[in-house]
Amino acid sequence: MRQPLVAGNWKMNGTRETIQMLVDGIKAGLGEVAKAEIAVCPPYVYIPMVVDMLAGTHVAVGGQDVSDQESGAYTGEVSGAMLRDVGASYAIVGHSERRSIYGESDAFTARKFAAARRFGLTPILCVGELLEEREQGITEAVVGRQLDAVIDLEGVAAIGEAVIAYEPVWAIGTGKTASPEQAQEVHAFIRQKLAALDAGVAEKVRILYGGSVKAANAEELFRMPDIDGGLIGGASLQADEFLAICRAPDAV
Ligand code: 13P
Repeated sequence: MRQPLVAGNWKMNGTRETIQMLVDGIKAGLGEVAKAEIAVCPPYVYIPMVVDMLAGTHVAVGGQDVSDQESGAYTGEVSGAMLRDVGASYAIVGHSERRSIYGESDAFTARKFAAARRFGLTPILCVGELLEEREQGITEAVVGRQLDAVIDLEGVAAIGEAVIAYEPVWAIGTGKTASPEQAQEVHAFIRQKLAALDAGVAEKVRILYGGSVKAANAEELFRMPDIDGGLIGGASLQADEFLAICRAPDAV
């Protein structure tokens, strides 16, 4: 049985004040969440504060990205070792905003995935197709290529120790969620692709869905057999909404 994971990706949002309120709100509702593991990914500068605030809870903290490098003259970068040092346990890699706005390639994402693992972080590897790619019918080819870059570098066993997030780019921040069936189709493709290489990895790896998940649609998505939780953007910035999504696995 895979434990569902609900992870909040706060993206570049928040101030000390709003984050304090958000975390207080999340903490206040944790008692009502039974099944899901919960994680939050604040902007780097707020990670130590959020780790402190969440001490004594089961909520994990992650980075929204991680450097492919270890240390040294890499201005602006934050290493996996630093994230570990301040108490993070996850790192998102290959988010579509990194890929599309900052031009990060499949190969570069794979190196970040490797760097996260090297420092004891669990990578949350984001994959997903653009709208035009879906319209061209190449969704599986794109997602397959994004996965292959990581498998080629790190091996399939490494995927079993990570988390995958399927985030169709056209569903991110648009209010346009993939239907549960559309999402399930790609999740099943990912799991089958992994199963062809290693059945144990395919069975074990959690595949999250991301893209306009909210309290109102979380349950129908999480009900699908290959959807093991969500990577939540906008809705993770409101404690009540985020907590309602965290409770959704209890209803399915
Ligand atoms: P939204 O939930 O705001 O669509 O963002 C999804 C996402 O990109 C999470 O990483």
